[in-house]
Order: sequence, then C-alpha cells, then structure tokens
Amino acid sequence: MESEVYSSTSEEDTHRIGTQLASRLEKGDIVTLSGELGAGKTEFVRGICRYFHVADIVTSPTFSIINVYEGKMPSGEPLRIVHIDLYRLKNKQELRTIGLDEWLALPDAIKVVEWPEKVKESLVRSSYHVSIRTFPGNDERRQISIEPVQALSSNAVH
Ligand SMILES: Nc1ncnc2c1ncn2[C@@H]1O[C@H](COP(=O)(O)OP(=O)(O)OP(=O)(O)O)[C@@H](O)[C@H]1O
Ligand SMILES: [Mg+2]
Repeated sequence: MESEVYSSTSEEDTHRIGTQLASRLEKGDIVTLSGELGAGKTEFVRGICRYFHVADIVTSPTFSIINVYEGKMPSGEPLRIVHIDLYRLKNKQELRTIGLDEWLALPDAIKVVEWPEKVKESLVRSSYHVSIRTFPGNDERRQISIEPVQALSSNAVH
C-alpha cells in the first residue's frame, strides 16, 4: 500500500498528524515509528495520546522500555495505550522479561513502538508504519510518511 506523506514544520504540526492517524486506529492496532534520535517519534505519540484524551504526561519510555497510559475511545470507552521504546533493549532475554509478545498481542489496547528495528521484523506486525525524516540545517522541518500495512489475511498463500 502507498505511503501518505506529510510535511511538519513544528512540534505542534507533528502532534496534529499523530492525532489524525489516531482517529483511524482501532483497538489492537500496532503503530511502529522509525527515525533517528530526536526525529520526533515521541512527539508523534503525544499526538496519538491527545486524541485518546490521555491525561498523563507522555514521556519517553527510554529507560523503562514500556509506559502504559489510560485513555478513552471517542465513545468514552476506556482504552490503554502501550508505549514501547526498544532503543535500549539489550538482548532476547530482556524481550522475554518485559513480555514484549504479550504486550503486542493485547487485543484491547493500542500499541505504539519506537525503534522496531531493534527486534526481528516478524516480532512486530504493525498496522501502520510511521517514518520521520529530518533535514540538516532546518531544526523544525520533518517529513512524516505513514504506511498502512495491509493486514495479513489468514488465507494468504505463502
Ligand atoms: N516538526 C517537529 N516535529 C517533532 N518534533 C520537533 C519538530 N521540530 C522540532 N522538534 C523537536 O525535536 C525533538 C523530538 O524529540 P522526540 O523525543 O520526539 O524524538 P524521538 O524521535 O522520540 O527520539 P528518540 O529516538 O531519542 O526517542 C523535540 O525536542 C521537539 O521539540
Ligand atoms: Mg522517543
């Protein structure tokens, strides 16, 4: 499927683009985010959390690896947002310790994953992949590509 490309010239723009994507998310979805350190992945997650009325302050889970926020669907139904940052992941053992598979499999939460490249692709089946590009010499400009990943049909022929 084709990527959608957005241009951001401020943190607030990036929040808005995140909020827009959030309005298309369904329970169980996984959003993966790529981009160099400081690209704006966590800012994008803040935009997603804003849509779901998360009251907590969204901080980078770099040290804890996983943060869980309580939010609400537009219908008012409670929803958890699981924010995972794999940047500091050390080894496979740690994956098991944090229970990555279990978190990602949660059917009633929305999961967002920074640095999915740190684990094998097959471990994180995203619904949307977001890539954020920076521009040298322009601190605030970003190009944000959103790629809807086609759901794998259980009937797919391999
Ligand atoms: N257009 C923009 N969109 C997003 N962030 C921006 C933009 N312009 C400037 N910034 C700044 O860039 C920084 C992005 O930080 P953020 O923590 O979101 O990056 P990150 O991609 O999550 O990095 P890390 O890999 O370290 O987790 C913030 O300080 C933010 O204010
Ligand atoms: Mg981050």
